[in-house]
Amino acid sequence: MRRKIIILGSTGSIGKNCLDVVRSNPKMFDVVALSAGSNVRELESQIAEFKPKMVSVASESAWSQLKKTAPKGVELLVGDAGPTELVERLNSEVVVSAIVGAAGLSSALSAVKKGTRLAIANKEPLVMAGDLIMRSAKKHGATIAPIDSEHSALWQCLHKEPAGRVRKLILTSSGGPFFGMTKKQLASVTPAQALKHPRWKMGKKITVDSSTMMNKGLEVIEARWLFDVPMEKIEVVVHPQSIVHSMVEFVDSSVMAQLGLPDMRTPIAYALSFPDRWPAKLASLSLSEVGRLDFFQPDFRRFPCLQLAYDAGRAGGLAPTWLNAANEVAVEAFLEGGLGYVGIARVIGKTLDKIVSLKVGGLEGIMEADAMARETARKFL
Ligand SMILES: NC(=O)c1ccc[n+]([C@@H]2O[C@H](COP(=O)([O-])OP(=O)(O)OC[C@H]3O[C@@H](n4cnc5c(N)ncnc54)[C@H](OP(=O)(O)O)[C@@H]3O)[C@@H](O)[C@H]2O)c1
Repeated sequence: MRRKIIILGSTGSIGKNCLDVVRSNPKMFDVVALSAGSNVRELESQIAEFKPKMVSVASESAWSQLKKTAPKGVELLVGDAGPTELVERLNSEVVVSAIVGAAGLSSALSAVKKGTRLAIANKEPLVMAGDLIMRSAKKHGATIAPIDSEHSALWQCLHKEPAGRVRKLILTSSGGPFFGMTKKQLASVTPAQALKHPRWKMGKKITVDSSTMMNKGLEVIEARWLFDVPMEKIEVVVHPQSIVHSMVEFVDSSVMAQLGLPDMRTPIAYALSFPDRWPAKLASLSLSEVGRLDFFQPDFRRFPCLQLAYDAGRAGGLAPTWLNAANEVAVEAFLEGGLGYVGIARVIGKTLDKIVSLKVGGLEGIMEADAMARETARKFL
């Protein structure tokens, strides 16, 4: 039977890769809904190809344009609540959460509340509200299938191993484009340079996050919640070739790693096919061609965002919510030319110093903290 699938963030890098996996497995899926921000052109061609029942867009102008071109029978929604409404109104077996940033929180939470499989790429909701999402998934019997390649690797290595057998999780990081740079060189990094990732082709926000290593910090917190492993047991190692996607060390000192070429379609397909594995027409990894695999310690002083993420994760409560909000504000300002590269970590650090309370009070409290942190961060720009 074809699985009904909703793809949130369908016009982005993950969304398009996800539709490519669906395209390669035409008998497996029925795309019932798509959601995007404002990329009308991409959405129009996705609607023509996948024929969803419902589509939501964030921007009013995108909605007005789509109204003229979308086939009759496609219900169009507009606004921030659109993705959540799609999830709540339609029955589906899988919801792919690939919206960038905090905007994906409400829809991801709705998916787990319905007991639907949540294939999650959007790490920010897990950073902001990991405890809430995981508790809700447990209560409603929802499977959370990670799409992030590192977490997919950990998920595969951990398969059926009880948490008590884990000594540590080791997340790999490509190190980003500035791994070897001095502090002085980092001070003059431009948005154009930060948007050139050496291994992965991704959306703008995650590409900048990868260059500051905030992405790895967010992933450490994401792993803490997905696998219920304390921050102290999660390490980062820089691995520029991006072939080993992550590792688990067990209590008997045995280390399991998952390897593959850097292609997001592999972890996406696993998140969609789990517990099965479907054949894919993707290139094979040849270790003899790769030749060597290097591993280095991360430099927390040159890349202070990683340290800030560890500190916020260890502090717990609302600290990761503040971290995420401050980072979103700082990265946006950097991309718009209103903040220098090293200013990103400074704005986040100063914002975190202003946290008023760590106490989490449900979704409303998280959203309030998110808004307060954004306002605080803007004052430091
Ligand atoms: N790219 C990767 O390889 C990768 C790997 C691991 C994890 N992730 C995570 O996956 C998420 C998506 O990353 P990405 O690289 O695919 O980002 P992206 O290319 O920037 O795509 C983001 C998607 O979200 C939509 N969107 C943006 N703002 C929205 C809003 N306010 N409401 C509804 N939709 C909105 C965009 O729509 P429009 O384009 O139409 O505006 C687009 O479809 C991020 O959380 C990232 O950390 C990405």
